[in-house]
Amino acid sequence: MLKSIAWIFRPYFCHSTRQLPRNFQKSMPRHSSTHCWRTHTCGELRRRHIGERVTLCGWAEFCRGKSFVILRDWQGQVQMFLTKGSAKDIPVESVIKVRGIVQSRPEKNINHALNAGDIEVHVDDIEVLNTCKSLPFSLQDFAKKGEETRMRYRYLDIRSQMMQNHLRTRSNLISSMREFLIHHHGFVEVETPTLFRPTPGGAKEFLVPSSVDNGLFYSLPQSPQQFKQLLMVGGIDRYFQVAKCYRDEGAKPDRQPEFTQLDIEMSFVSSNDVMRITESMIKKCWPKDLNDHEFPRITYQEAIEKYGTDKPDLRTKLSITNLSNLFDSKDTINCVVVPDSYHKYLSKHTADGMHSKLMHFNDECARNGIFFWENGNFEHISGDRIENYEVLSDVRIWKNSSVVWLSWGDYNQVKTTLYKAIPIVADTIESNGDSIRDEGYKFLWVYDFPLFEADGDKLSCVHHPFTAPHPDDTELIHTDPTKVRSLAYDLVLNGSEVGGGSIRIHDSSLQRHILSEHLDIETDDLEHLLYALDCGAPPHGGIALGLDRLLAMLCGTSTIRDVIAFPKSSAGRDLMCGAPCKPDRDIMDHFFKPKIR
Ligand code: AMO
Repeated sequence: MLKSIAWIFRPYFCHSTRQLPRNFQKSMPRHSSTHCWRTHTCGELRRRHIGERVTLCGWAEFCRGKSFVILRDWQGQVQMFLTKGSAKDIPVESVIKVRGIVQSRPEKNINHALNAGDIEVHVDDIEVLNTCKSLPFSLQDFAKKGEETRMRYRYLDIRSQMMQNHLRTRSNLISSMREFLIHHHGFVEVETPTLFRPTPGGAKEFLVPSSVDNGLFYSLPQSPQQFKQLLMVGGIDRYFQVAKCYRDEGAKPDRQPEFTQLDIEMSFVSSNDVMRITESMIKKCWPKDLNDHEFPRITYQEAIEKYGTDKPDLRTKLSITNLSNLFDSKDTINCVVVPDSYHKYLSKHTADGMHSKLMHFNDECARNGIFFWENGNFEHISGDRIENYEVLSDVRIWKNSSVVWLSWGDYNQVKTTLYKAIPIVADTIESNGDSIRDEGYKFLWVYDFPLFEADGDKLSCVHHPFTAPHPDDTELIHTDPTKVRSLAYDLVLNGSEVGGGSIRIHDSSLQRHILSEHLDIETDDLEHLLYALDCGAPPHGGIALGLDRLLAMLCGTSTIRDVIAFPKSSAGRDLMCGAPCKPDRDIMDHFFKPKIR
């Protein structure tokens, strides 16, 4: 009986070390029972402890009869056999402290579902530290609860094995990064203010009213960008920080209004230096296997041309081929070709299904259709039909392929269409049990981004206004600014942008020129930075890694909320504490009513 119930509990609440990432097991604290009441954790007890007198603290996960309690902590579970007192009076999830001797279990009572299933603790002293008076639901059902419930009772969600693993993996990754930067590469960790002034030209910011200076506001920083540049001027030539950033833009699976960056800045460096040190740090600290090859690097232009996006997912072995020169048309004509080995999963029926999935993105899609190459002929199967598609029969560029998804029209729309088509094809193939995506972690650098993008007749910056133009393109700044490349780079992992950085402008007149002449940004808000650049600012550059996104990838979760202890809901709210909320009238008056003196 006990065995089967323990098995039911296992998926969510068993803290089996076997399920933790490899490095995480290595770095599991040996001495997590110092300076506290317990002598051991529940999960660490094994046969080698038989005969030892131990003190354990944890949660009563399950009670059976008068004498048996499964005690759980973050590391695992172990069975208590009460030689005194009764388990009957202990509600599940009560917090208890026990003292007793570790004993071997009789052969017939061994529970193979528990790591410590061949031992039990014979308890002679039990103390209920806090009786669990109420639970909003039974914890073993927790995994089945929707996001709202998980967010509202986040402290209970955190008791789950999944959240325990994620938060401990997070702590370990950040600790290895600190170790790498401080002890191996001479970085200095500096905390920068979170009450700041608005930065022009970026994301929407949160405002904080000041009660001292009535009517004035701080803003919460989108990132420590300006402070890290000012630290370079101050001679802290290798800075990093685990920094909270705030952007008032609602939550998505990969976005939170409040998130964490590993923020880095260095003096006297090239783009290559920043990319290389970031890459070595990731290789050193990543707890799962990354092969030793250098992360591939492609330019922004190549990325768009080949994958239709600046964050390609290199796990998928599908890319875009340009067919424009085969047709007598001004349109861009591109296609995604599916290798022959996957033909068996793609029929008229699945082609229609794929096409209608793509049509959910209706507005952004160029004209497109799916064609089969069969018996030496090209056949239109689903979607739009391009004129003269028969010419494709003569050009067997798809030698070993039989399904071709074509798109034609405006360059950007064609690229976007096929970028969206690629995962639809991959998912269709994989829904048949085959695999077209590689396993693992495919990092990639994308560089040579444009400095500006056109926004109607205005220009806006692709990264941020402090990004340096490519030295080969400086002349174009005056003549053809949208053609100017920047010294910016992004780190991409499995199709997600996990980091971004650049070499910065350290010449105040160039910075002033770009702000006022191209971006139409008032320099008044940035005079402190512009002045500092004139005070002997060293050439510098850096990067910020999105720690939440990196961890979500590492832990294999579909949303960054699962690697953040107290995230905001998809509507951007804290459902547990009820934030944001309306402040009291008195507080509002205090901040916003003019003071009569
Ligand atoms: P950027 O804006 O590209 O650059 O941000 C760097 C990385 O932070 C992560 N990120 C986010 N993660 C979760 N929620 C969000 N709302 C969010 N926004 C960004 C991404 C992104 O790659 N100061 C510059 C860096 C620099 O130039 O050094 C900056 O913040 O993973």
